[in-house]
Amino acid sequence: MEYTTLGRTGLKVSVMGLGCGGPSSIGQSTGNSEDESIAIVKYALKSGINFIDTAEVYQTERIVGHGIKGYNRENLVLSTKKSTWGNIKPKDVLKSLQRSLKNLGTDYIDIYHLHGVILSDYDYLVSEIMPTLQELRDQGKIRFLGITERFNPDPHHSMLQRALQDDIWDVMMVGFNILNQSARDRVLAKAIEKNIGILIMFAVRLALSRPKRLKECLNELIGKNQISPSEINIEDPLKFLIHKNGAKNLVDAAYRFCRYEPGIHVTLSGTGNLSHLKDNLESILRPPLTEKDLIKLKKIFKNVDSISGQ
Ligand SMILES: NC(=O)c1ccc[n+]([C@@H]2O[C@H](COP(=O)([O-])OP(=O)(O)OC[C@H]3O[C@@H](n4cnc5c(N)ncnc54)[C@H](OP(=O)(O)O)[C@@H]3O)[C@@H](O)[C@H]2O)c1
Repeated sequence: MEYTTLGRTGLKVSVMGLGCGGPSSIGQSTGNSEDESIAIVKYALKSGINFIDTAEVYQTERIVGHGIKGYNRENLVLSTKKSTWGNIKPKDVLKSLQRSLKNLGTDYIDIYHLHGVILSDYDYLVSEIMPTLQELRDQGKIRFLGITERFNPDPHHSMLQRALQDDIWDVMMVGFNILNQSARDRVLAKAIEKNIGILIMFAVRLALSRPKRLKECLNELIGKNQISPSEINIEDPLKFLIHKNGAKNLVDAAYRFCRYEPGIHVTLSGTGNLSHLKDNLESILRPPLTEKDLIKLKKIFKNVDSISGQ
């Protein structure tokens, strides 16, 4: 595994993190037993991943807690989240944090995020909830504060652009992938200036792991005039990436594309399938895609900001 520093937090983190939500929820949404999901966490740790992302709403915190038992806590970076929908109150945060600590079997969270924040909730959360989070940080129950966007309804990053104007976030979780690269100019450039730790979600998601879904997304983008039909072959749109010096397959291309983007520290991989995890670990350690392929991807998708790749 390779490691990097997570921006201003100074934490040493693996360049791939295990995502315990998303369509798989480490297999809890795709038919794994709890033991199989625990084995995914353990395998990730054994392979050198030290960054694990979960959330109260994923219902995988307890499984993560089992998976990390016996592992040196000091070397581990645990990231979890408080759901923000439904006008939450400070007392809800206190309850949720207590529950997360118990589920994870730890007495502190390295990065505690406000989860899936939308622009219209942002000011309320900063004025009403932030003081509680800061107190919890002062008490040592939280080390760093993070915020994550709701990428499906906000694929143009309106909330994170607002959050970047404040100087209160140590870490941000951003949607970024081959199809929607709009975070590069709208989020990452400023995050680099402010030395904010950046975690990437949606690197693969559904569009880049299922050919049928990819075709649907591309047709949608053509319909919205965000990509030009003359620049891709809709029947096998990203085939040009797969060649001797290029990617092994589309998922491989997708993780490598994110891994080397300036400003990104941790690319999250969400899988419940051990063989996929092994492949993804190999992908993250391969070199960047070729310059020629990267230029082509940037050109084809330069105007896209309307889909998440879900
Ligand atoms: N707003 C938020 O805060 C927010 C929102 C979304 C996600 N997240 C976080 O970000 C993490 C990453 O997002 P994500 O879970 O969508 O991850 P992802 O890695 O972009 O995509 C996961 C999907 O790709 C599939 N996949 C993974 N590796 C594969 C492979 N080698 N071959 C074929 N298919 C593969 C998975 O299915 P298999 O299980 O079959 O491998 C799953 O359906 C989440 O787990 C969560 O922790 C946060």
